[in-house]
Amino acid sequence: MSALKILVIPGSLRSGSLNARLAAVAAHELAQAGAEITRISLADFPLPIYDGDLQAKSGVPKHAVNLKRMMAAHHGVLIVTPEYNSSVPALVKNTIDWVSRVQDAHETRGQVFRDRVFAIAAASGNRLGGARALAALRLILSACHAQVIPNQFALAFADDAYDEMERLKNAADSEGLKALARQLIDVSQRMM
Ligand SMILES: Cc1cc2nc3c(=O)[nH]c(=O)nc-3n(C[C@H](O)[C@H](O)[C@H](O)COP(=O)(O)O)c2cc1C
Repeated sequence: MSALKILVIPGSLRSGSLNARLAAVAAHELAQAGAEITRISLADFPLPIYDGDLQAKSGVPKHAVNLKRMMAAHHGVLIVTPEYNSSVPALVKNTIDWVSRVQDAHETRGQVFRDRVFAIAAASGNRLGGARALAALRLILSACHAQVIPNQFALAFADDAYDEMERLKNAADSEGLKALARQLIDVSQRMM
């Protein structure tokens, strides 16, 4: 059987991003559990704000098509999102909006969401850890008919969550992330 491939997408472009750091730890956990990991930055897939006129005139931008194809080349996707004003940042929503408009030959629009497994995580400096962004992201992905695993992970007080080796200091956090990684791998394997 070919290796299980998981794509990890941090939903922040900021240098030192708490979510990019969590995505790196999650990628490590997934790799430890046996998956082949690709961790990207959305900085490499810049997209204009979705505009139906733009799509009608020029089609879906190539970065959205490329990102969709990269997703399609993986069995599972982990999105690690910041929380902005109790929801997902525009970057995350806009990226999903564009990718959901991609339609390659012999497939229906947005099929890439329906055919694979998603997991979601968040990091924030406050005690909720981005839980409201996770609720919003689960709703958005569900609207795209994605299979989002029941486990999710919200890292609270994320600016003080790491030790000097960039590992999660708190055992409960570490276990929570491992459980997410295990479930993503288990469910993705069943979809292979
Ligand atoms: C516009 C804006 C709105 C924010 N709203 C929230 C919020 O509702 N809940 C929260 O926990 N943090 C909120 N924050 C703080 C972010 O969680 C914090 O900036 C975090 O570091 C962003 O993620 P990043 O470090 O991965 O870039 C907000 C930040 C910005 C810039």
